[in-house]
Amino acid sequence: MRYGILTSGGDCAGLNAVIRAIGMYLTRNVKNAELIGIPEGYGGLIRGESFPLKAADFESILDEGGTILKTSRQPFKKMTVPEDGGTRLAKMVANYKKMGLGCLFALGGAGTHKTAALLAMEGCNVIGVPKTIDNDIYGTDVTFGFQTAVEVASEAICRIETTARSHSRIMLVEVMGNKAGWLTLHAGLAAGAHMILIPEIPFSVDAVCDFLAARVRAGERYSMVCVAEGALLASEARFKKEDRAFVRTELGESTVTRHLAEVIGERTGVETRYSVLGYLQRGGAPCAYDRLLCTRMGICAARLAERGHYGVTVALEDDKITFNALADVAGKYKFVDPDGDAVRDARAVGVCFGDRA
Ligand code: F6P
Repeated sequence: MRYGILTSGGDCAGLNAVIRAIGMYLTRNVKNAELIGIPEGYGGLIRGESFPLKAADFESILDEGGTILKTSRQPFKKMTVPEDGGTRLAKMVANYKKMGLGCLFALGGAGTHKTAALLAMEGCNVIGVPKTIDNDIYGTDVTFGFQTAVEVASEAICRIETTARSHSRIMLVEVMGNKAGWLTLHAGLAAGAHMILIPEIPFSVDAVCDFLAARVRAGERYSMVCVAEGALLASEARFKKEDRAFVRTELGESTVTRHLAEVIGERTGVETRYSVLGYLQRGGAPCAYDRLLCTRMGICAARLAERGHYGVTVALEDDKITFNALADVAGKYKFVDPDGDAVRDARAVGVCFGDRA
C-alpha cells in the first residue's frame, strides 16, 4: 500500500522525528509499504507533487530541526472556495486518488487538522499527528514541539534576566502564541518571571504598572515580564479579533510589547527594554522529551494505519498515547484555564497576570 506524509503550517522541532518513526515502523512492519513525501504541506497535495521516501531518508533525522518535507501555510478558509479548475479541496481529493494513496499522514496544528477532517469527510484515509509550539490542539495534553519551545524560551528568559539584574531594568520578553498562552505560561514559570501576560487573561496597564512600581518600592531593582504574542488589554478584549488586528496594524505593530514597554518605562521611571524571541522558538533540534513523544506518536499513527483505522488524530492523555476522531477535535482549541491549577499556583508564588496588581 502507498502511504503519503505531509507536514503543514508553521514548523516546529520534532517534525522529522515523527516522519522517522512512521517511516521506520512501516518499512519494518508492513509488507510492501511504499512511502511518498508530499512537499510543502497541503500546497504539494493541491499541486499534485510527491517524491519517494526510502528507509535511508529516515535514519539520521531524529534530532534534525525543521522538516525534510518542507511546509507551507494553506488557509482553511480558502479550501472550499471555487478557483480556476475547482476548489483546493477538490484538487487535493483528486490528487490523493491520482497518487494512489491508501493513507495520508498529516502532521500539523489546528488548521491542518481542520483540513484533514475535510479530506476525511471526502473519503480520504487521513491520520493526523498534533504539532505546534502553541500547544493549543484540543484533545491532547501536549503537542509535539511544545516542550522544545518551552526549553528554548525559558533559557532565553533566564539569560535576559541576568542582564536585567545587572542593569536594574524591567525587561519584557515576547514569546510566541497568538491565541493561546501555554508557551508563555510554561516558559515564564520555568524561568521564574515576575509577570506573565497571556491572551486568556486580558491585562490592564494600571495593574501592570502598579505591580512593577510596588516591586521598585519594595527594593526589587529589576523585573521580568513575559508577554505572549497575543496578549491583549482588557479594553481590547471586547472587540472581535479582526477589529483588534486592524487597530494594531494601523498603529504599525501586531503585538502590544513595544508600546507596553514604553508606557511601563514612563510610569515607573525604571529603564525598560524588550526582546522578541520569534522563530528561535520554532527552529533547531527537538529536546529529549519531544524526541520521545514524537517517536511514540509516530509509531501510534503508523499502527493506526496498519489496522486501517482512519479519520483520527494521535493524542497524549494522562501519559498514554491514544487517538481522537478528527471530526471531534477539528475547529476546537485548548486554552489556558484562567482559574486552573497552573495559573493558581503561579499566583500563589507571587506571579502577576496583569489583571490585578
Ligand atoms: O506555529 C505557531 C506559531 O509559531 C505561532 O505561535 C505564531 O503566532 C505563528 O506561528 C507565526 O506564524 P508565521 O510562521 O506565519 O510567521
